[in-house]
Amino acid sequence: MKKDVLSITDLSREEIYELLESAAELKEKRKAGESTEFLKNKSLGMIFEKSSTRTRVSFEVAMTDFGGHALYLNSKDIQVGRGETIEDTARTLSGYLNGLMARVISHETVKKLAEYSTIPVINALSDREHPCQILGDFMTILEFKKKFAGLKFAWVGDGNNVCNSALLGSAIMGMEFVIACPKGYEPKAEFLEQAKALGGKFSITDDPKAAAKDADIIYTDVWVSMGDEAEQEKRLRDFIRFQVNTELLGVAKPEVIVMHCLPARRGLEITDEVMDGPNSVVFEEAENRLHAQKALILKLMK
Ligand code: CP
Ligand code: NVA
Repeated sequence: MKKDVLSITDLSREEIYELLESAAELKEKRKAGESTEFLKNKSLGMIFEKSSTRTRVSFEVAMTDFGGHALYLNSKDIQVGRGETIEDTARTLSGYLNGLMARVISHETVKKLAEYSTIPVINALSDREHPCQILGDFMTILEFKKKFAGLKFAWVGDGNNVCNSALLGSAIMGMEFVIACPKGYEPKAEFLEQAKALGGKFSITDDPKAAAKDADIIYTDVWVSMGDEAEQEKRLRDFIRFQVNTELLGVAKPEVIVMHCLPARRGLEITDEVMDGPNSVVFEEAENRLHAQKALILKLMK
């Protein structure tokens, strides 16, 4: 049976540990220049309805490293852009490809792709979740902190797609998750309920310092996600107190790591000083997207 990964909750704690172990091995092999042609002659389709730097490049390089091929399919250029249904697209692509990933405006689209494909489908960001991001993030946390259990993960900013995956992933891996966001920007109740059902320990505050206090991880993301541009002015006003800056870092543990999925709006959700400072792991995190996704596509497509 094929397996799809549309949510971080499609992976169990054991599967996440296995993926992170595999990712670490693949990272070493890559640094050593060892050949890893494990997906020779296999092809991954990559449908994009939104912009991307990291996700697009890391998946494409992953397939190159594996001796396979990745196809960038901008949704505007393929026939879905002219009204061919997702169902027919999924059936058609299943005849050519060995795997499919999609970055979509609506989560329903990636769900439908998964339903009508006979090949594994990966969510490469939707309005609900960003599971590939969280795998790379967890790899980074394990590298710097050597464990998950008992860590305090402070999310400072919008309760968005990345936050949903981080919340659910933290519940799976046993980290305490504290969200600091302005009122009205919390993750939707269904994600909080899902985190609770997974045994997650989490809380929500509108005080960034309360969240950052003694934190092991401070994570932020843009205040205006792709698709939220119409609310830009209001959001910039509402989030002004939620910047990750040196003052906020002052209340966290001295060895706190600062994470950001990127792209960042420097000077808004994060200052240059913090992003380029000694606690920042944002570029290690970006690199780890590659290794973690290699482990994921190997598991799903091999
Ligand atoms: N973090 C992330 O997914 O980056 P891109 O939008 O550049 O892919
Ligand atoms: N929350 C951001 C993440 C980008 C990787 C967005 O959806 O635009």
